[in-house]
Amino acid sequence: MREVVVAANWKMHTTPADAGELARTIASRTRESGVTRVICPPYVCLAAVGAALADDDPDVAVGAQNVHHELAGAYTGEISAPMLAGLATWVIVGHSERRRDAGETDEQIGRKLERAMDADLRPILCVGEQLEERERGEASEVVDRQLRGAMAGHDPARTTGHGLVIAYEPVWAIGTGRNATGTDAAAMADAIRASLGGLGWADRADDVPVLYGGSVTSGNIGAFLGEPSIDGALVGGASLKPDEMAGIVARAGITARARGLAG
Ligand code: PGA
Repeated sequence: MREVVVAANWKMHTTPADAGELARTIASRTRESGVTRVICPPYVCLAAVGAALADDDPDVAVGAQNVHHELAGAYTGEISAPMLAGLATWVIVGHSERRRDAGETDEQIGRKLERAMDADLRPILCVGEQLEERERGEASEVVDRQLRGAMAGHDPARTTGHGLVIAYEPVWAIGTGRNATGTDAAAMADAIRASLGGLGWADRADDVPVLYGGSVTSGNIGAFLGEPSIDGALVGGASLKPDEMAGIVARAGITARARGLAG
């Protein structure tokens, strides 16, 4: 049975002064057996969040929101995978806001994936189509291209061994309050696993957790987690709100119990 994951992407919110307290509050309100919880604060808050959770709830993992594709060098303002040692155990790669704002390419995202795994970070690889692409009926083609660009050459055994998670995040649903339907998200999760099959992952594609992301709230999470192909959520805006996170993780707990994952 695939793992159930709820990952919080805090984006460019919180400071080292307040992030620890928010993490502690969210952790205490989301204790749900069988659900893997991850909080991804800004780089400068990783230490504060890690310290707050280590005292309180070491079951909540800490993740970075990005990592550079080189190990070291003249890259002003960037952070490499080895620098995250002791600060994070997960990392988001290929988020659409980085593709858009930093011009990240699939090839670079593939290298980030490699660096993350070399540094023993669990990657959450984000893929998803633009609105016009969905309207043209090209959503699964776009995601297939993104996966091919980022994953070609990655050894399936090594990558699943490092606990790869894929987040399907339609760009038009991120931060817009307009979420995909559960049925559409599930069809895309199936398309993602079919793409992995096409990349030579036939016997491993079913093991990869696929999350949905894009305007997830406690009110709509049930539509996604009611779909057997969907294994959790990558939550942006709502992840800064303890009440929302409590509702989202409580719903994830129902799925975890139904899958026999809860202890
Ligand atoms: P959102 O962001 O929940 O605010 O739409 C999701 C994401 O960007 O991961």
